[in-house]
Amino acid sequence: MVAFLLFLGFLSTAFSAGPNIPCMMFNCASQSAKCFANSDCRALMMCLTKCGQTNQTCMFDCIYSYENDIFDDFMKCASTEHNCIELAPPDPPVVCKKPTQVVQNFSLDMMEGSWYIVKGLNPIYDCFDCQITRFYKGDSQSMLKVNEKFEIHTVMGTTITRYVNESVTQPDPKACGIIKYSSNQMGHNTISEWRVLDRGQNGEYLFMYYCGSIAANYFYEGSVVYSKNAQLSPEAWTNIQKVGMGQGLKMNNFCSPKAGC
Ligand SMILES: *[C@@H]1O[C@H](CO)[C@@H](O)[C@H](O)[C@H]1NC(C)=O
Ligand SMILES: *[C@@H]1O[C@H](CO)[C@@H](O)[C@H](O)[C@H]1NC(C)=O
Ligand SMILES: *[C@@H]1O[C@H](CO)[C@@H](O)[C@H](O)[C@H]1NC(C)=O
Repeated sequence: MVAFLLFLGFLSTAFSAGPNIPCMMFNCASQSAKCFANSDCRALMMCLTKCGQTNQTCMFDCIYSYENDIFDDFMKCASTEHNCIELAPPDPPVVCKKPTQVVQNFSLDMMEGSWYIVKGLNPIYDCFDCQITRFYKGDSQSMLKVNEKFEIHTVMGTTITRYVNESVTQPDPKACGIIKYSSNQMGHNTISEWRVLDRGQNGEYLFMYYCGSIAANYFYEGSVVYSKNAQLSPEAWTNIQKVGMGQGLKMNNFCSPKAGC
């Protein structure tokens, strides 16, 4: 879910920098008109105007709640293609503190199958309820495809399910615990580096850290525990905490999303 959400975060910071209206009218007239004619897209814009220029939580909630293809097309035109809406990086900037110890002898087939996300560190990206991440064989041996499912509680008080697709590779066989996730969101490539910090003795969980960037000065990081079971055993969580603390992660800050729903 990170790439999709990150992109929404990216849009919300873009909006906080203030859109260039003449630029949008000149370059994206048809996309603007379609947005205006669509009730969700219009509601999204109205919702955003109530957020002021700096409240990103508010913008993020609006975009989560109403985002659809028509809005995506509008943003692709106004932001990605014509820069009518400029990106403001997070303030203060995020600096990734990548853990240095990763597991040895890791291979992509150890990720195959479906996982619950039972623990998460970043409250924006990692803590959604009912997250299921499924890894499966892609077209080539050296790549897996990923389908990420998660629930969003909207500003209207409803719950919707979102999906994101990504692909996964292991770029350096000598550093096999470092995994690359890639996806394309609305014409924008997002790449993040994931690190496998720990793996359950029987492969029942994977403790992951990630760092990615969406622009030269726009980074994000977080950490999740993928688990084969909806319930992580207390012993597993004890091990994971030990590993995480040793790598400087704030284990008390982890959320426990609802899983197995
Ligand atoms: C930002 O928006 C959220 C959600 O709409 C609201 O709860 C919060 O009070 C706002 N924060 C500020 C500083 O206005
Ligand atoms: C990794 O695999 C190699 C060869 O299969 C083995 O010799 C080594 O002990 C393994 N290392 C770990 C940490 O499991
Ligand atoms: C994601 O992949 C699934 C197949 O696993 C496909 O059915 C779905 O259309 C894809 N969704 C998007 C948004 O690309």
